[in-house]
Amino acid sequence: MSASNQAAVNHQIWLVARPAAEPSHDNFRLVQMPLEPLAPGQVRIRNHYLSLDPYMRGRMSDAKSYAPPQPLDQVMLGGTVGEDVESTHPQWHVGNKVLAKFGWQEYGTSDGTDMEKIDDTRVPLSAYLGPVGMPGVTAWYGLNRIIAPRPGSTVVVSAASGAVGSVAGQLAKLSGPRAVGIAGGADKCRYVVETLGFDACIDYKAADWYQDLQRATPDGVDGCFENVGGVVLDATLARMNPFGRIALCGMIAGYNGEPAPLKHPALIVTQRLCVQGFIVSEHLDVWPQALRELGEWVAVQRLHYRESIAEGLDSAVDAFIGLFKGRNFGKQLVKLV
Ligand SMILES: NC(=O)c1ccc[n+]([C@@H]2O[C@H](COP(=O)([O-])OP(=O)(O)OC[C@H]3O[C@@H](n4cnc5c(N)ncnc54)[C@H](OP(=O)(O)O)[C@@H]3O)[C@@H](O)[C@H]2O)c1
Repeated sequence: MSASNQAAVNHQIWLVARPAAEPSHDNFRLVQMPLEPLAPGQVRIRNHYLSLDPYMRGRMSDAKSYAPPQPLDQVMLGGTVGEDVESTHPQWHVGNKVLAKFGWQEYGTSDGTDMEKIDDTRVPLSAYLGPVGMPGVTAWYGLNRIIAPRPGSTVVVSAASGAVGSVAGQLAKLSGPRAVGIAGGADKCRYVVETLGFDACIDYKAADWYQDLQRATPDGVDGCFENVGGVVLDATLARMNPFGRIALCGMIAGYNGEPAPLKHPALIVTQRLCVQGFIVSEHLDVWPQALRELGEWVAVQRLHYRESIAEGLDSAVDAFIGLFKGRNFGKQLVKLV
Protein backbone atom coordinates (compact mmCIF):
# COMPACT_ATOMS: atom_id res chain seq x y z
CA MET A 1 0.00 0.00 0.00
CA SER A 2 1.34 3.39 -0.85
CA ALA A 3 0.22 6.68 0.66
CA SER A 4 1.86 8.93 -1.91
CA ASN A 5 0.31 12.36 -2.21
CA GLN A 6 -2.01 12.60 -5.21
CA ALA A 7 -4.26 15.53 -6.08
CA ALA A 8 -7.87 15.18 -4.87
CA VAL A 9 -7.12 12.11 -2.76
CA ASN A 10 -6.82 11.90 1.01
CA HIS A 11 -5.10 8.88 2.55
CA GLN A 12 -6.33 7.99 6.01
CA ILE A 13 -5.70 5.28 8.59
CA TRP A 14 -8.79 3.90 10.33
CA LEU A 15 -9.05 1.83 13.47
CA VAL A 16 -10.89 -1.33 12.37
CA ALA A 17 -10.37 -3.72 15.31
CA ARG A 18 -9.49 -3.38 18.99
CA PRO A 19 -6.27 -5.05 20.15
CA ALA A 20 -6.38 -7.52 23.04
CA ALA A 21 -2.71 -6.94 23.85
CA GLU A 22 -0.03 -5.45 21.56
CA PRO A 23 -1.48 -3.43 18.68
CA SER A 24 -0.72 -4.80 15.22
CA HIS A 25 -1.32 -3.92 11.57
CA ASP A 26 -4.56 -5.96 11.75
CA ASN A 27 -6.08 -3.24 13.95
CA PHE A 28 -5.71 -0.59 11.24
CA ARG A 29 -6.63 -0.06 7.61
CA LEU A 30 -5.14 2.39 5.12
CA VAL A 31 -8.03 4.00 3.25
CA GLN A 32 -8.09 6.28 0.22
CA MET A 33 -10.86 8.88 0.18
CA PRO A 34 -11.70 11.52 -2.44
CA LEU A 35 -11.19 15.13 -1.43
CA GLU A 36 -14.58 16.74 -1.95
CA PRO A 37 -14.73 20.39 -3.11
CA LEU A 38 -14.99 22.82 -0.17
CA ALA A 39 -18.41 24.11 0.84
CA PRO A 40 -18.72 27.82 1.67
CA GLY A 41 -17.00 28.64 5.01
CA GLN A 42 -14.68 25.65 4.98
CA VAL A 43 -10.90 25.31 5.24
CA ARG A 44 -8.61 22.57 3.93
CA ILE A 45 -5.43 21.84 5.83
CA ARG A 46 -2.52 19.80 4.50
CA ASN A 47 -1.18 18.05 7.56
CA HIS A 48 2.62 18.24 7.80
CA TYR A 49 3.11 16.20 10.97
CA LEU A 50 0.99 13.73 12.90
CA SER A 51 1.72 13.16 16.58
CA LEU A 52 1.84 9.57 17.84
CA ASP A 53 1.21 9.30 21.58
CA PRO A 54 0.90 6.51 24.13
CA TYR A 55 -2.63 7.66 25.13
CA MET A 56 -3.86 6.42 21.74
CA ARG A 57 -3.40 2.85 22.97
CA GLY A 58 -6.00 3.53 25.67
CA ARG A 59 -8.44 4.96 23.13
CA MET A 60 -8.12 1.81 21.00
CA SER A 61 -9.70 -0.09 23.86
CA ASP A 62 -13.33 0.17 24.93
CA ALA A 63 -12.49 -0.46 28.60
CA LYS A 64 -13.63 2.12 31.17
CA SER A 65 -11.43 5.21 30.98
CA TYR A 66 -11.36 8.98 31.39
CA ALA A 67 -12.15 9.44 27.67
CA PRO A 68 -14.50 7.65 25.26
CA PRO A 69 -12.98 5.01 22.97
CA GLN A 70 -11.95 5.74 19.40
CA PRO A 71 -14.88 4.50 17.27
CA LEU A 72 -14.17 1.66 14.86
CA ASP A 73 -14.09 2.28 11.09
CA GLN A 74 -13.20 5.93 11.49
CA VAL A 75 -9.99 7.91 11.11
CA MET A 76 -7.72 7.21 14.08
CA LEU A 77 -7.56 10.26 16.34
CA GLY A 78 -4.44 12.36 16.85
CA GLY A 79 -2.89 15.82 17.00
CA THR A 80 -1.63 17.39 13.77
CA VAL A 81 0.13 20.49 12.54
CA GLY A 82 -0.19 21.69 8.99
CA GLU A 83 -0.90 24.47 6.57
CA ASP A 84 -4.05 25.98 5.09
CA VAL A 85 -3.99 25.05 1.39
CA GLU A 86 -7.51 26.09 0.40
CA SER A 87 -10.17 28.22 2.06
CA THR A 88 -13.65 29.60 1.57
CA HIS A 89 -13.65 30.83 5.18
CA PRO A 90 -13.28 34.58 5.85
CA GLN A 91 -10.86 34.17 8.80
CA TRP A 92 -8.65 31.40 7.47
CA HIS A 93 -6.20 32.05 4.66
CA VAL A 94 -3.96 29.95 2.48
CA GLY A 95 -0.55 29.75 4.18
CA ASN A 96 -1.88 29.92 7.76
CA LYS A 97 -0.10 27.38 9.98
CA VAL A 98 -2.51 25.32 12.03
CA LEU A 99 -2.59 23.11 15.12
CA ALA A 100 -5.56 20.73 15.07
CA LYS A 101 -6.68 17.19 15.80
CA PHE A 102 -7.30 15.84 12.33
CA GLY A 103 -5.93 12.40 13.20
CA TRP A 104 -4.11 9.90 11.03
CA GLN A 105 -4.73 11.43 7.62
CA GLU A 106 -3.04 13.68 5.09
CA TYR A 107 -5.70 16.41 4.90
CA GLY A 108 -8.21 17.88 7.31
CA THR A 109 -11.37 19.74 6.31
CA SER A 110 -13.02 22.00 8.85
CA ASP A 111 -15.42 24.89 9.35
CA GLY A 112 -12.62 26.63 11.26
CA THR A 113 -13.61 25.44 14.73
CA ASP A 114 -11.27 23.27 16.81
CA MET A 115 -8.21 24.66 15.03
CA GLU A 116 -5.61 27.12 16.24
CA LYS A 117 -3.33 29.40 14.24
CA ILE A 118 0.31 28.90 15.25
CA ASP A 119 3.42 30.92 14.53
CA ASP A 120 6.40 28.95 13.27
CA THR A 121 8.83 31.85 12.99
CA ARG A 122 10.53 31.20 16.36
CA VAL A 123 9.22 27.74 17.22
CA PRO A 124 9.32 24.99 14.55
CA LEU A 125 5.95 23.67 13.46
CA SER A 126 6.61 20.15 14.78
CA ALA A 127 7.46 21.44 18.28
CA TYR A 128 3.78 22.36 18.75
CA LEU A 129 3.16 18.60 19.01
CA GLY A 130 6.01 18.10 21.48
CA PRO A 131 7.68 20.47 23.97
CA VAL A 132 5.37 23.37 23.05
CA GLY A 133 2.28 21.19 22.93
CA MET A 134 0.42 18.57 24.94
CA PRO A 135 3.52 16.61 26.09
CA GLY A 136 5.27 19.81 27.21
CA VAL A 137 2.25 21.03 29.18
CA THR A 138 1.95 17.57 30.75
CA ALA A 139 5.53 17.86 32.01
CA TRP A 140 4.93 21.45 33.16
CA TYR A 141 1.79 20.52 35.11
CA GLY A 142 3.15 17.40 36.80
CA LEU A 143 6.41 19.05 37.74
CA ASN A 144 5.19 22.48 38.85
CA ARG A 145 1.74 21.71 40.22
CA ILE A 146 2.19 18.25 41.72
CA ILE A 147 5.85 17.75 42.57
CA ALA A 148 6.59 21.49 43.08
CA PRO A 149 10.25 20.71 43.79
CA ARG A 150 12.36 22.70 46.23
CA PRO A 151 15.98 23.63 45.53
CA GLY A 152 18.27 20.95 46.96
CA SER A 153 15.68 18.18 46.52
CA THR A 154 16.00 15.21 44.15
CA VAL A 155 13.52 14.46 41.37
CA VAL A 156 13.47 11.18 39.42
CA VAL A 157 11.88 11.13 35.94
CA SER A 158 11.15 7.88 34.08
CA ALA A 159 11.03 7.56 30.26
CA ALA A 160 13.43 10.48 30.61
CA SER A 161 14.45 10.79 26.95
CA GLY A 162 10.84 10.84 25.74
CA ALA A 163 8.47 13.66 24.84
CA VAL A 164 7.16 14.26 28.36
CA GLY A 165 10.10 13.02 30.45
CA SER A 166 12.71 15.10 28.62
CA VAL A 167 10.78 18.30 29.38
CA ALA A 168 9.97 17.31 32.98
CA GLY A 169 13.64 16.78 33.84
CA GLN A 170 14.76 20.01 32.18
CA LEU A 171 12.06 21.97 34.01
CA ALA A 172 13.24 20.40 37.27
CA LYS A 173 16.80 21.54 36.54
CA LEU A 174 15.57 25.08 35.73
CA SER A 175 14.05 25.32 39.21
CA GLY A 176 17.08 23.99 41.10
CA PRO A 177 16.74 20.34 42.15
CA ARG A 178 18.92 17.39 41.28
CA ALA A 179 17.31 15.54 38.34
CA VAL A 180 17.87 11.83 37.79
CA GLY A 181 16.45 10.16 34.69
CA ILE A 182 15.57 6.54 34.05
CA ALA A 183 15.66 5.42 30.41
CA GLY A 184 16.16 2.32 28.28
CA GLY A 185 19.70 1.99 26.95
CA ALA A 186 23.10 3.67 27.11
CA ASP A 187 22.48 6.02 24.14
CA LYS A 188 19.30 7.43 25.63
CA CYS A 189 20.98 7.85 29.03
CA ARG A 190 23.97 9.63 27.49
CA TYR A 191 21.62 12.06 25.72
CA VAL A 192 19.62 12.67 28.91
CA VAL A 193 22.77 13.72 30.78
CA GLU A 194 24.90 15.34 28.07
CA THR A 195 22.21 17.18 26.07
CA LEU A 196 19.28 17.58 28.44
CA GLY A 197 21.48 18.37 31.47
CA PHE A 198 20.09 15.84 33.97
CA ASP A 199 22.57 15.07 36.77
CA ALA A 200 22.44 11.32 36.11
CA CYS A 201 20.48 8.77 34.12
CA ILE A 202 19.94 5.12 34.98
CA ASP A 203 19.64 2.52 32.24
CA TYR A 204 16.90 0.21 33.51
CA LYS A 205 17.92 -2.42 30.97
CA ALA A 206 21.39 -2.76 32.55
CA ALA A 207 22.24 -5.35 35.18
CA ASP A 208 22.27 -4.01 38.75
CA TRP A 209 20.35 -0.88 37.82
CA TYR A 210 18.64 -0.77 41.24
CA GLN A 211 22.08 -0.20 42.76
CA ASP A 212 22.84 2.42 40.08
CA LEU A 213 19.66 4.27 41.09
CA GLN A 214 20.68 4.05 44.74
CA ARG A 215 24.10 5.53 43.96
CA ALA A 216 22.55 8.33 41.86
CA THR A 217 20.14 9.31 44.66
CA PRO A 218 22.39 9.39 47.75
CA ASP A 219 19.95 11.61 49.65
CA GLY A 220 16.87 9.67 48.58
CA VAL A 221 14.11 10.92 46.25
CA ASP A 222 11.72 13.78 47.03
CA GLY A 223 9.79 13.95 43.75
CA CYS A 224 8.97 11.26 41.20
CA PHE A 225 7.61 12.08 37.74
CA GLU A 226 6.31 8.66 36.73
CA ASN A 227 5.73 7.75 33.10
CA VAL A 228 6.30 3.99 33.15
CA GLY A 229 5.04 2.12 36.24
CA GLY A 230 5.89 -1.55 36.95
CA VAL A 231 9.44 -2.31 38.05
CA VAL A 232 10.58 1.23 37.21
CA LEU A 233 8.12 2.75 39.68
CA ASP A 234 8.98 0.04 42.24
CA ALA A 235 12.62 1.06 42.10
CA THR A 236 11.90 4.76 42.66
CA LEU A 237 9.31 4.04 45.34
CA ALA A 238 11.97 2.23 47.34
CA ARG A 239 14.11 5.42 47.28
CA MET A 240 11.36 7.90 48.28
CA ASN A 241 11.96 10.16 51.28
CA PRO A 242 9.20 10.80 53.82
CA PHE A 243 6.50 13.15 52.48
CA GLY A 244 7.80 12.74 48.92
CA ARG A 245 5.50 13.54 46.02
CA ILE A 246 4.73 11.33 43.04
CA ALA A 247 3.16 12.79 39.88
CA LEU A 248 1.58 9.73 38.29
CA CYS A 249 1.57 10.79 34.66
CA GLY A 250 1.50 7.44 32.88
CA MET A 251 2.19 3.73 33.30
CA ILE A 252 3.18 2.73 29.79
CA ALA A 253 4.72 -0.58 30.91
CA GLY A 254 1.16 -1.90 31.36
CA TYR A 255 -0.61 -0.44 28.33
CA ASN A 256 -0.38 -3.59 26.21
CA GLY A 257 -1.28 -6.05 28.95
CA GLU A 258 -1.72 -6.56 32.65
CA PRO A 259 0.23 -3.88 34.50
CA ALA A 260 2.75 -5.36 36.93
CA PRO A 261 1.45 -4.82 40.49
CA LEU A 262 3.56 -2.67 42.81
CA LYS A 263 5.83 -4.80 44.96
CA HIS A 264 5.77 -2.55 48.03
CA PRO A 265 2.65 -0.33 48.01
CA ALA A 266 2.89 -0.10 51.82
CA LEU A 267 5.79 2.33 51.29
CA ILE A 268 3.17 4.93 50.35
CA VAL A 269 1.92 4.70 53.93
CA THR A 270 5.17 4.27 55.79
CA GLN A 271 6.83 7.14 53.87
CA ARG A 272 3.61 9.26 53.99
CA LEU A 273 3.79 9.88 50.24
CA CYS A 274 1.48 12.05 48.21
CA VAL A 275 0.60 10.21 44.97
CA GLN A 276 -1.40 12.23 42.46
CA GLY A 277 -2.56 10.97 39.10
CA PHE A 278 -3.54 13.61 36.54
CA ILE A 279 -4.80 14.09 32.98
CA VAL A 280 -3.40 17.20 31.35
CA SER A 281 -6.53 17.97 29.34
CA GLU A 282 -8.42 18.50 32.61
CA HIS A 283 -6.17 21.42 33.59
CA LEU A 284 -6.84 23.87 30.80
CA ASP A 285 -6.24 26.79 33.18
CA VAL A 286 -2.45 26.20 33.13
CA TRP A 287 -2.08 25.78 29.36
CA PRO A 288 -1.62 29.46 28.43
CA GLN A 289 1.14 30.06 31.02
CA ALA A 290 2.80 26.71 30.36
CA LEU A 291 2.79 27.19 26.56
CA ARG A 292 4.12 30.74 26.89
CA GLU A 293 7.06 29.60 29.03
CA LEU A 294 7.78 26.45 27.03
CA GLY A 295 7.59 28.34 23.72
CA GLU A 296 10.04 30.97 24.92
CA TRP A 297 12.49 28.38 26.25
CA VAL A 298 12.38 26.43 22.97
CA ALA A 299 12.79 29.65 20.94
CA VAL A 300 15.94 30.64 22.87
CA GLN A 301 17.17 27.01 22.92
CA ARG A 302 17.10 26.77 26.68
CA LEU A 303 14.83 23.75 26.39
CA HIS A 304 16.18 20.94 24.22
CA TYR A 305 14.16 18.26 22.51
CA ARG A 306 14.59 15.45 20.07
CA GLU A 307 12.21 13.95 17.52
CA SER A 308 11.82 10.48 15.98
CA ILE A 309 10.35 11.11 12.56
CA ALA A 310 8.65 8.34 10.58
CA GLU A 311 8.25 9.18 6.89
CA GLY A 312 4.80 8.98 5.32
CA LEU A 313 1.38 7.91 6.58
CA ASP A 314 2.00 4.26 5.82
CA SER A 315 4.84 4.20 8.37
CA ALA A 316 2.50 5.35 11.18
CA VAL A 317 1.43 1.92 12.43
CA ASP A 318 4.99 0.61 12.86
CA ALA A 319 6.04 3.85 14.54
CA PHE A 320 3.08 3.64 16.90
CA ILE A 321 3.84 0.02 17.82
CA GLY A 322 7.44 1.10 18.44
CA LEU A 323 6.41 3.54 21.19
CA PHE A 324 5.70 0.56 23.45
CA LYS A 325 9.06 -1.03 22.73
CA GLY A 326 11.15 2.11 23.24
CA ARG A 327 12.04 2.33 19.53
CA ASN A 328 11.35 6.06 19.50
CA PHE A 329 14.10 8.36 20.75
CA GLY A 330 12.30 11.60 21.63
CA LYS A 331 8.90 12.79 20.43
CA GLN A 332 7.41 10.37 17.87
CA LEU A 333 6.05 12.10 14.79
CA VAL A 334 4.96 11.07 11.33
CA LYS A 335 6.00 13.42 8.53
CA LEU A 336 3.19 13.65 6.01
CA VAL A 337 4.57 16.09 3.44
N1 LIG B 1 -1.37 12.14 32.22
C1 LIG B 1 -1.37 12.78 31.07
O1 LIG B 1 -2.15 13.71 30.85
C2 LIG B 1 -0.39 12.37 30.02
C3 LIG B 1 -0.18 13.14 28.87
C4 LIG B 1 0.81 12.73 27.96
C5 LIG B 1 1.52 11.57 28.19
N2 LIG B 1 1.26 10.83 29.29
C6 LIG B 1 2.03 9.62 29.60
O2 LIG B 1 3.39 9.97 29.69
C7 LIG B 1 4.19 8.85 29.38
C8 LIG B 1 5.24 9.25 28.36
O3 LIG B 1 4.58 9.65 27.16
P1 LIG B 1 5.42 10.30 25.97
O4 LIG B 1 4.46 10.85 25.00
O5 LIG B 1 6.47 11.18 26.54
O6 LIG B 1 6.10 9.02 25.31
P2 LIG B 1 7.66 8.79 25.07
O7 LIG B 1 8.33 8.77 26.42
O8 LIG B 1 8.16 9.76 24.08
O9 LIG B 1 7.68 7.33 24.46
C9 LIG B 1 7.36 6.22 25.22
C10 LIG B 1 8.59 5.67 25.96
O10 LIG B 1 8.16 4.87 27.04
C11 LIG B 1 9.15 3.90 27.31
N3 LIG B 1 8.53 2.58 27.39
C12 LIG B 1 7.68 2.04 26.50
N4 LIG B 1 7.32 0.80 26.89
C13 LIG B 1 7.96 0.57 28.06
C14 LIG B 1 8.00 -0.54 28.97
N5 LIG B 1 7.29 -1.65 28.76
N6 LIG B 1 8.77 -0.42 30.07
C15 LIG B 1 9.49 0.71 30.29
N7 LIG B 1 9.49 1.78 29.47
C16 LIG B 1 8.74 1.70 28.38
C17 LIG B 1 10.15 3.93 26.16
O11 LIG B 1 11.31 4.64 26.59
P3 LIG B 1 12.63 3.83 27.08
O12 LIG B 1 13.31 3.37 25.84
O13 LIG B 1 13.36 4.82 27.86
O14 LIG B 1 12.12 2.66 27.87
C18 LIG B 1 9.43 4.74 25.10
O15 LIG B 1 10.32 5.41 24.25
C19 LIG B 1 3.23 7.75 28.92
O16 LIG B 1 2.97 6.89 30.00
C20 LIG B 1 1.98 8.53 28.56
O17 LIG B 1 0.82 7.73 28.64
C21 LIG B 1 0.32 11.20 30.21
